[in-house]
Amino acid sequence: MATDTVTPTPHATGKPTEARHATAETASRTTVKVRALSREFDGRGVLHDINFDIRDGEFVALLGRSGSGKSTLLRILARLDDEYTGTVQAPKRPAVAFQDSRLLPWKKVLANVMLGLPTRGVDGTETRARAEEMLAEVGLTDHAKAWPKTLSGGEAQRASLARALVRRPELLLMDEPFGALDALTRLRMHQLLRTLRQRHRPALLLVTHDIDEAILLADRVLVLTDGVLSLDLDIPFPVVGRRRRPGFTELRDRLLEELGVADDDR
Ligand SMILES: Nc1ncnc2c1ncn2[C@@H]1O[C@H](COP(=O)(O)OP(=O)(O)OP(=O)(O)O)[C@@H](O)[C@H]1O
Ligand SMILES: [Mg+2]
Repeated sequence: MATDTVTPTPHATGKPTEARHATAETASRTTVKVRALSREFDGRGVLHDINFDIRDGEFVALLGRSGSGKSTLLRILARLDDEYTGTVQAPKRPAVAFQDSRLLPWKKVLANVMLGLPTRGVDGTETRARAEEMLAEVGLTDHAKAWPKTLSGGEAQRASLARALVRRPELLLMDEPFGALDALTRLRMHQLLRTLRQRHRPALLLVTHDIDEAILLADRVLVLTDGVLSLDLDIPFPVVGRRRRPGFTELRDRLLEELGVADDDR
């Protein structure tokens, strides 16, 4: 597996950082390995001694109340933040998708998807063909020449997914990607994500506030409570028809409890 080792840059202060991306274990079947990870902002601890793995192709949902540290953790895995302590082993170039699609407004949809591909090593024709193929997979062929501002929220997120997956990443990190969509569009995005996942098989970390989304999509759910990983639970259901499985409601209740939602709120 092409997991890379990266030497972290020193802190802006010039102090040597304790952060490091560890050497990949060649025999390992894990895409992500996090050990004793902690992060402070101005002396305030936000992540405390986090340990977990994500196996190749595994879909992990990360739940937690607002401010519990989910985005902080995701940003570290995405290599957008290296001022942590502990070790993080992860692919060098994970794909990342956010709530806001972050399409470049001055590039048309196809050109935005092409941005997901490396410029070196792939010639122009091949880049275009791969981007077109990926746009077809997310059902946006007809919008290839559209400007991002003309897309609906759901279409913009589909374009963002196409850009993220076009280079077939080993790891896809998503921070509340469907949070701004209406309920119906969100359900359609779930279906699309399931299909894309089956086809491309990246390891996936999905940050979400939506417990149902987590149970319906993921293989495993992690819960962060005030910066501590308080729950790490396998979802024991097959992919199809989860909502109707015996035990669905109990699992939902267990997660609500872990997130500190009182009975009265249900
Ligand atoms: N750059 C920063 N500087 C200072 N504090 C920060 C910074 N980034 C995050 N924090 C703090 O870290 C804590 C965790 O933030 P984070 O964004 O990870 O939470 P979250 O779980 O993603 O919340 P939400 O569900 O609202 O998105 C918060 O208290 C936040 O204020
Ligand atoms: Mg967040």
